[in-house]
Amino acid sequence: MANWKYCLVTLFALGTLSSLASAYKVGVGRADITGPSVEINFMGYANIKQVGRGLHTRTFARAFVVEDEKGNRLAFVSADCGMMGYGLKREVVKRLQARYGNIYNTENVAISGTHTHGAPGGFLMHLLYDISILGFVPQTFEVMAQGIYLCIKRATDNMVDGRIYFSKTVLLNVNINRSPSSYLRNPEEERAQYEHDTDKTLAQLRFVDNENNLLGAFNWYAVHATSMNNTNKLVTSDNMGYAALLLEKEYNPNKMPGKGKFVGSFCSSNLGDVSPNIMGPKCSLSGNDCDILTSHCPAGEGECFASGPGRDMFESTQIIGQRLADGALSLLNEQSQESTAREVTGDIRFIHQFVDMPNYNGSTYNPLTRKLDKIRGCQPAMGYSFAAGTTDGPGAFSFEQGTTTDNPMWNFVRDFIVPPTQEDIKCHEPKPILLATGRATFPYEWQPKIVSNQILKIGDVIIAAIPCEFTTMAGRRLRNQIRAAASAAGGIDTEVIIAGLTNIYSSYTVTPEEYQAQRYEAASTIFGPHTHTIYMDIYEHLTKAMMRNETVDAGPSPPYMNDVMLSLNTGVLFDGHPIGTDFGYVKTQPKKQYGINDTVRATFISGNPRNNLFTEKTYFTVERKINEDRWKITYTDASWDTRMIWHRTNTILGFSELEIVWNISPQTLPGDYRIRHSGEYKYILGGKYPYEGLTHSFTVTED
Ligand SMILES: *[C@@H]1O[C@H](CO)[C@@H](O)[C@H](O)[C@H]1NC(C)=O
Ligand SMILES: *[C@@H]1O[C@H](CO)[C@@H](O)[C@H](O)[C@H]1NC(C)=O
Ligand SMILES: *[C@@H]1O[C@H](CO)[C@@H](O)[C@H](O)[C@H]1NC(C)=O
Ligand SMILES: *[C@@H]1O[C@H](CO)[C@@H](O)[C@H](O)[C@H]1NC(C)=O
Repeated sequence: MANWKYCLVTLFALGTLSSLASAYKVGVGRADITGPSVEINFMGYANIKQVGRGLHTRTFARAFVVEDEKGNRLAFVSADCGMMGYGLKREVVKRLQARYGNIYNTENVAISGTHTHGAPGGFLMHLLYDISILGFVPQTFEVMAQGIYLCIKRATDNMVDGRIYFSKTVLLNVNINRSPSSYLRNPEEERAQYEHDTDKTLAQLRFVDNENNLLGAFNWYAVHATSMNNTNKLVTSDNMGYAALLLEKEYNPNKMPGKGKFVGSFCSSNLGDVSPNIMGPKCSLSGNDCDILTSHCPAGEGECFASGPGRDMFESTQIIGQRLADGALSLLNEQSQESTAREVTGDIRFIHQFVDMPNYNGSTYNPLTRKLDKIRGCQPAMGYSFAAGTTDGPGAFSFEQGTTTDNPMWNFVRDFIVPPTQEDIKCHEPKPILLATGRATFPYEWQPKIVSNQILKIGDVIIAAIPCEFTTMAGRRLRNQIRAAASAAGGIDTEVIIAGLTNIYSSYTVTPEEYQAQRYEAASTIFGPHTHTIYMDIYEHLTKAMMRNETVDAGPSPPYMNDVMLSLNTGVLFDGHPIGTDFGYVKTQPKKQYGINDTVRATFISGNPRNNLFTEKTYFTVERKINEDRWKITYTDASWDTRMIWHRTNTILGFSELEIVWNISPQTLPGDYRIRHSGEYKYILGGKYPYEGLTHSFTVTED
């Protein structure tokens, strides 16, 4: 009798478990979004000299799609790009809706940029952000729109019954605060609650099918993807993208980078004041520390910038990427023990609202006066210290961080563009306005006024998708606020993840205290001193509404500006080649023999890589001889070990060469190798034609 009862209880428990186990449908997907690798400026450092000259790693977009038992679904994308723009998200949603109807929409799709500063720009559709790229670049926009759409489509097509796990771990030696003097402005009691002046926690969502096969892992960690500095001219996904390639290599053995079913992603978070250059800022000529308040070096001591931990930026990218990947792997390897990972259960929800920031009216409790103070957003404007740049990439002019006094020369330039009103000047205090971007309308918006605010909820894990770069403390306050609001309105304890640079880009957000210091991040807090307070208000309200199943007003739509885009970039005119050669001709053959750690170089007469982006393909392959008639592809243009550098040899006649570089890593198998280049050239009378070239074979020996 007792046994029988026991059986029934067990059966019941199993039934509950299995219904829990199939509570979600999960899917992951990846697609290539590599833009034009040459002749287009990179997005991030706003450095006019940082024009693409080739490819180091391809850039990818990675998605997960989850659905609960009731059919509530959401899609999250992390893309190897500087940040997301709303014009681009709108295009992705349009393509999704053409395929799936209203299953996907503005509310349940979140697209976040990893913040690499090494990918071509021209996709943001706001003049200030596209100005250093010489305007809008249709080719960048198109490959990103299609790739992001495709990764969500692939995730959707891959959906299976599965489970989701949450885990987290602490990673030291990955990041430092690049504005520590600003951070110190935050109240001492608040700082005392935290051990570090940057967040060190890596948070992971793991997706498995019902047989516990690993499908994907998405990891959030707060660090700028700026291990590659502003002298780099090869397209790169930087430390976050390299970490993803390492993670994917582990679970997609024998696959080329960017291929294979397992999807591993590293996503941006509250990284506003967080640098990966952990050796810290130094004066480039003297090696002395820079001034802590202004990040400036005395005359003759050179520029102030941070670097490390490697000997050069490539090695630094590898080290930081490896540390991130190791952190994610340590969580995945614990799968059997299930020590830190816990299963996520509960329903899926999302909420979204557009907010017109300059016209936001709210109030905040002032503990000094014990009254509610009115808070208002300001018209977008950038302060002086914005032009100083950061210690990850100093600015071009003699601006200093921490500037709170203005200069008539720059005011003249500024007023020539468009003057701020008295109200703007007052609103932004103590920020001296360098660019009154909110007042500029020619030829279209310079910076957004309407931003996207979005919260995604998977069981008790909440992802706050924010439209900018929050600093460390700004992010901590927001997480605490959301957690408290979720608890108050829904009675559940939640884990809150901040997904940075999502859906639209509106520069930085610092705490009101950090704003007073007016370093770069504060100068780039475009809606004024109350920006953060307003977000706290919005996200509290949205969290409560989401927990209570209430709907909120959708808010005003950002303007549609696709048809007024300005572009000063010229397309490819035509390609030519010197007499006696042809496209694909090998101008410089590799040597006959190489050893481990040697560098192979081969140069081909080429067309302009912009003729064809070879999306999901490759401009070249390194092939190893298996037998007389079989060669196996061992590296592509997406591999870390290879680089592609394009040289324009005659502008008038359209001659160019492609140099392929392969650093033979210690893991390389000895044997015979050759390099193949595939390209397209543009004929002077029109039309584009494919060509190919192949080097002699060469030998790699064991030492
Ligand atoms: C960038 O890194 C390279 C080393 O890879 C270094 O030589 C150069 O000085 C750095 N420049 C800046 C501005 O950080
Ligand atoms: C906020 O207040 C200002 C000034 O009182 C007003 O012009 C604006 O329309 C208000 N905005 C909203 C969204 O109510
Ligand atoms: C909200 O809806 C979910 C299901 O969609 C339900 O489980 C939950 O109880 C509702 N919560 C409130 C506060 O109404
Ligand atoms: C290759 O370089 C690595 C790292 O510098 C080194 O540890 C290794 O010994 C080198 N191998 C050979 C065969 O030179």
